[in-house]
Amino acid sequence: MAHLALSQVPVAAPVGSDVSLKKSVFKRHAISFVDGSRAPSIALDLKTKSSKLRNRHIVCLSVQQVGIPKLAVSPLGLEDAKEPPLNLYKPKEPYTATIVSVERLVGPKSPGETCHIVIDHGGKVPYWEGQSYGVIPPGENPKKPGSPHNVRLYSIASTRYGDSFDGKTASLCVRRAVYYDPETGKEDPSKNGICSNYLCNSKPGDKVKITGPSGKVMLLPEDDPNATYIMIATGTGVAPFRGYLRRMFMESVPTFKFGGLAWLFLGVANTDSLLYDDEFTKYLRDYPDNFRYDRALSREQKNKSGGKMYVQDKIEEYSDEIFKLLDGGAHIYFCGLKGMMPGIQETLKKVAMQRGENWEAKHAQLKKNKQWHVEVY
Ligand code: FAD
Ligand code: A2P
Repeated sequence: MAHLALSQVPVAAPVGSDVSLKKSVFKRHAISFVDGSRAPSIALDLKTKSSKLRNRHIVCLSVQQVGIPKLAVSPLGLEDAKEPPLNLYKPKEPYTATIVSVERLVGPKSPGETCHIVIDHGGKVPYWEGQSYGVIPPGENPKKPGSPHNVRLYSIASTRYGDSFDGKTASLCVRRAVYYDPETGKEDPSKNGICSNYLCNSKPGDKVKITGPSGKVMLLPEDDPNATYIMIATGTGVAPFRGYLRRMFMESVPTFKFGGLAWLFLGVANTDSLLYDDEFTKYLRDYPDNFRYDRALSREQKNKSGGKMYVQDKIEEYSDEIFKLLDGGAHIYFCGLKGMMPGIQETLKKVAMQRGENWEAKHAQLKKNKQWHVEVY
């Protein structure tokens, strides 16, 4: 078995690249995997090739890594810890990390831009799947002259091993916050989001101030490797779930051999806006008994009333199975738009009524049992 080193890992295309793979730009590395097979040459060395790459079209990192069979990682000390690392770096003394890559994740017909950003923390800011980093954008806080900007939180989209599989990087999934003038409908760049645009505009080698890791609510309880996890995401809310799924299906970790069921519901605007779809589709192919994946494309599909297809419509479609799984102890996670929660609650209440159940009581019980996990923003 071999382990990947950072320079051997398929790294990202610059923002703006599209998705046709040119094998000629890849540096060849022999990598072997848990099943003993040899990998096709998949890696490239960003440092030596970056200038050539800039003008080429290559697939983004999540697509490149889809070619990798399940990969043995060298277990980190983090595997033995009883508690997750918490707030190792605070806003007053952030860690200065380095941007490894920034790549656009969405196609040309996506409304808005979402980027996958790999950050090198040198192993100094370890985390567990489901935690977030804080980012302090450069510049002065306009509301507090002389002070730095406030921290913005971003869910970590990689496992504790990072997309580099060596425990030295973390990946974020960031959507540019863009402001449209409600009267003219035109973009007003002076009001665009500060931190998301800073991150999406950053370049490999740039320094970035990070804090954390933070958050416990979205951790993956790993005491039962055969547990069921239902994951509901809108947009970048998919970030923590990408981390969970890589831990379950992409990495081979001696201390966590997943044999349960993971079921992802992902809501985005259209096909071009799907995030990490190639990774998820691969898991469907390779682990059909352990993974389910349902997509709600709000601007391409209609729900049964003729309205936009949202994740709550998919929940309704599969409500019998979902309720049975919850009764059997499944964990349910929600991440993404704050605005999705009222619609989801309404749907769950409606379904419970149809089943002759009291939703308020059931919801309270799920929370009490620690089966209910919400992180919306
Ligand atoms: P800000 O500069 O903070 O601006 C906020 C909004 O106000 C923007 O939409 C901006 O366009 C608008 N605005 C600016 N000026 C004006 C004005 N004068 N009038 C009206 N509107 C104005 N985001 C992700 O993309 N990915 C994640 O994984 C993610 N995870 C998160 C996890 C948690 C736990 C939390 C709490 C949030 C998360 N977020 C995530 C959201 C993220 O923290 C930021 O809030 C987001 O990126 C916007 O920050 P910004 O600095 O770009 O925008
Ligand atoms: P839409 O924007 O078509 O109304 P975003 O890209 O803004 O993060 O959104 C991700 C997805 O969540 C989009 O498909 C968006 O649909 C959808 N969405 C927006 N509002 C809600 C809501 N209240 N409930 C569920 N999904 C929502």
